[in-house]
Amino acid sequence: MPLNITIRSTTVDDLVTITDVHTLGFGYEKEARLTAALLADATATPTVSLLALHDGAPVGHILFTRVRLNGRDDPLLHILAPLAVTPEYQRKGVGGALIRNGIEKLRSMGSKLVFVLGHKEYYPRHGFTLHALRHGYQPPYPIPEENSAYWMFQPLTPEAVNIETGILQCADALHHPAHWRDDGGAEI
Ligand SMILES: CC(C)(COP(=O)(O)OP(=O)(O)OC[C@H]1O[C@@H](n2cnc3c(N)ncnc32)[C@H](O)[C@@H]1OP(=O)(O)O)[C@@H](O)C(=O)NCCC(=O)NCCS
Repeated sequence: MPLNITIRSTTVDDLVTITDVHTLGFGYEKEARLTAALLADATATPTVSLLALHDGAPVGHILFTRVRLNGRDDPLLHILAPLAVTPEYQRKGVGGALIRNGIEKLRSMGSKLVFVLGHKEYYPRHGFTLHALRHGYQPPYPIPEENSAYWMFQPLTPEAVNIETGILQCADALHHPAHWRDDGGAEI
């Protein structure tokens, strides 16, 4: 039976809850620190930050932050990072619900494209296309050819397929080689 999951936007009061979810979900603190840094980063706005709750208890969090193509503010574009579900709630649909809900929110705020560097078996189930570089979207730091499939994108409107291509620039907190390592995106 599907879980009764509630999803809501986060507030500044949720910071500790959010970082706890990432530390539990990933099993280490790096993504929790990245999330806290992104939530305090003016260059990351407008963000979409969603918490999944089961019976009032936090079980997952997703964050989308702004990226810029060729240094321009227009069109509005985003990247998904990070996403985590606490271990006992993994593989129960929570991650998928957060992605779907987040994408709807991005669409309603007028975002045109969303990128992700992550599990290549997982994100295509939620509309992402592998090999974004082959479609002309260059990541901020190079991804080795053997891992290039992990760099993915998704147009959020029918017209977005015609958006110009080029080099992506992330929010300052994400714009660091440590977040773009050649390990298939497991760190993002
Ligand atoms: C990856 C993660 C966010 C997925 O969320 P989730 O709620 O567990 O996943 P869902 O229930 O929405 O989807 C489950 C399906 O995706 C698959 N899946 C889940 N995690 C996967 C992974 N890491 N790689 C490939 N497939 C995965 C499952 O096999 C399952 O498929 P099935 O229904 O055919 O069995 C979650 O497992 C997690 O937090 N993992 C640790 C942190 C992490 O890796 N974050 C993402 C970094 S890119």
